[in-house]
Amino acid sequence: MKKLLICTGGGDCPGLNAVIRGIFKSAKKTKEWEIYGSIEAFNGVMAEPTQIIKLTKSKVGGIHVKGGTILKTTNKGNPLQFPVQDENGNIVFEDRTDSLAKKIKSLGFDAVINIGGDGSQKISKALFDLGVPIIGVPKTIDNDLSATDTTFGFQTAVQIATDSFDKLVTTAESHHRVMIMEVMGRDAGWIALHTAIAGGAEVCLIPEIPYDIEKVKEKIDSRYEKGRGFVNIVIAEGAKAKNGQVFGTEREMVSEHLRLGGVAFQLSAELKAAGCKPEIRETVLGHIQRGGTPVGYDRVLATMFGVKAFELVRDGKFGQMVSFKNNDYCSVSLEEAVKDYNVVDKEGFLVQGAKAMGMSFGD
Ligand code: F6P
Repeated sequence: MKKLLICTGGGDCPGLNAVIRGIFKSAKKTKEWEIYGSIEAFNGVMAEPTQIIKLTKSKVGGIHVKGGTILKTTNKGNPLQFPVQDENGNIVFEDRTDSLAKKIKSLGFDAVINIGGDGSQKISKALFDLGVPIIGVPKTIDNDLSATDTTFGFQTAVQIATDSFDKLVTTAESHHRVMIMEVMGRDAGWIALHTAIAGGAEVCLIPEIPYDIEKVKEKIDSRYEKGRGFVNIVIAEGAKAKNGQVFGTEREMVSEHLRLGGVAFQLSAELKAAGCKPEIRETVLGHIQRGGTPVGYDRVLATMFGVKAFELVRDGKFGQMVSFKNNDYCSVSLEEAVKDYNVVDKEGFLVQGAKAMGMSFGD
């Protein structure tokens, strides 16, 4: 029997379990593979003793409807920049990819499938360059990977945000209020843009289009001129004012990212300072968008990503990342996979179409 190792890395995302099940079921059908999972991304491989579990039918059965990942995950175990304490107690970063690659080989794995976003696929590439037979599966609710048209988890996040938006509309209307709803989206405003179009927001603020607070206020005022209006705004966590800064709360020592969240309150304060009269309320959706059951679309995408990933393993086509392009399940090289981000094009049809519907982006 050959040995296949699965890892889930980075932030969790609805659909991860469906990928694991897709790999497991299609691999088991060949009767040639044993499937293992590393706990908390590659941390399970690096740990002494290792934390690797053998996947069985009973562990994997029915998990495609379950959110999260049965293998657990972390965004703190990047082997390219592994945090360790030096003798003075300071955190320093070490490149541990070489020892990780050696450990994977010494454990006798014939193939690895790494499910994760941009950061995880950079790790896949580094391991592949060191001779590890590895395949990547793209994962991000932000939908910010350019090598695939879409990623599982994104539609689920948009649906959760749209359902929440719809609830905020009825209360905004009843109280003649301005409602600000903050959604995830660090560098890319896809969740915000899709939710704003699906819900019919008056204002949508995204990282790709820095906003002018006066323009946002103008849009709000125009909705109140004709009587007692109401306004619903969607803002991505990474949105910022022109000449402004991204609103973050803290920078963790073990991660290169500033923790975002709370820009809805910042926008509210800016609007009040600009003289906005109506009452304003803020809602930060946060991790609700990443939890729970994946919608049908994401289950299909995730399951097929799993099947495709195993197909690449079976055919020995390593160094590739599974992708969904032009309605087709295909693959791209890991090099291609980590080259560019997929951000919203402000001249693109989605933004222009939303503008044609009267939506303001504050520009
Ligand atoms: O990258 C996905 C994402 O959901 C971002 O939109 C968000 O900023 C980040 O992860 C949150 O990460 P954490 O779960 O570590 O707070």
